[in-house]
Amino acid sequence: MPPIFDIREDLSDVEFDDGTVCKKLMKIAMSNNEVFLVERSPKNNSNELYLEAMKEIRVESCDEHRILRIRSLFGRGVGKHENLIQVRWTKQKGNIFYVFLEYMDLDNLDSLQLDDRQRLVCFEEYFAGHVAAKLVLALNHLRSRLIAHRDFKPANVLLSTLGDIKVCDFDIGRVLESDGEEMSSLVGTDEYMAPEIFSGKYTLKCEIWSLGIILFKMLFGGLPKTSNPIDEIRPQWSEHSTKDSGSNSDDGKWPEKKECSIEAYDFLNKCLQRDPANRYSADQLTSTKFFLKYNDVPKSEIEKYLKKFTHIRFNCFLTHGNIKNLRQRTMVNNPLERFRI
Ligand SMILES: Nc1ncnc2c1ncn2[C@@H]1O[C@H](COP(=O)(O)OP(=O)(O)O)[C@@H](O)[C@H]1O
Ligand SMILES: [Mg+2]
Repeated sequence: MPPIFDIREDLSDVEFDDGTVCKKLMKIAMSNNEVFLVERSPKNNSNELYLEAMKEIRVESCDEHRILRIRSLFGRGVGKHENLIQVRWTKQKGNIFYVFLEYMDLDNLDSLQLDDRQRLVCFEEYFAGHVAAKLVLALNHLRSRLIAHRDFKPANVLLSTLGDIKVCDFDIGRVLESDGEEMSSLVGTDEYMAPEIFSGKYTLKCEIWSLGIILFKMLFGGLPKTSNPIDEIRPQWSEHSTKDSGSNSDDGKWPEKKECSIEAYDFLNKCLQRDPANRYSADQLTSTKFFLKYNDVPKSEIEKYLKKFTHIRFNCFLTHGNIKNLRQRTMVNNPLERFRI
């Protein structure tokens, strides 16, 4: 369950110099930055409303240089792609930089994987595979625009009840000059960082390692225990051969090896290569059997699978009268699209 924030907290409107009014409805996250669910009515036109997520980045806690970098990513950078969160509007007011984003009504992949007792669950392979395939497409797009995300992890993957899967949070992203350009800053989230990042030289291939760890966690309900995650997994060669392939006869080093389909194993093996030269690129991953098997799972199937998780964010709405009305409205309308009242 995501943290339920105190609904008595100050949710005062924010007005901008061009007449745009932004009504905060609920705080939806507070990690490095505060993120709110908002209704934005542009330029004194109260008939036009956008339901969006608004991220507040405080200038004190980040420098002008960072703002410029974020601006350049939002401006030239990320471009449009169905697996990337779209930025709708940005504005700086005083010491706060506001970023308005399309709203995703289920929480991020990390929260989704926790049950109501905060235990990690494993996802069905077709769902995990579908998410991984969409992340491959997002990474492939970013690569074509020479953008390194550098914090590729489940908390930065957002989902909607309609089955959309999108990558967010480009705050520490970087625009590169060329595909093979090397980076050296030690940034990211430890568990998902490729080994070469710690040695101080890495390229866009680092995100493929993170993708492997994300998929590992989705399939097995936990992070790898060792620095060679692929050794912890046993491929299921066929329905009948798992015993013969050694569940009792290996060296006992990994008595609890995690099992997955041969396609999933193959995909993980291509992502979780410690040497980046042996690791597949996003483009190469699009021709793996695993990608081809799950990329086209119908959205209706994913939507159906996600139904059991809808308590996650909509639960918060039930506690607040105004928001309850909004919920009814947005349940009828597509919550991700612009709507009129
Ligand atoms: N567009 C959005 N729609 C819904 N929730 C969002 C959106 N953007 C961010 N969030 C929520 O806020 C959290 C933090 O957002 P993120 O952009 O990753 O900020 P941070 O820099 O603090 O990590 C996300 O994990 C997600 O739960
Ligand atoms: Mg984040």
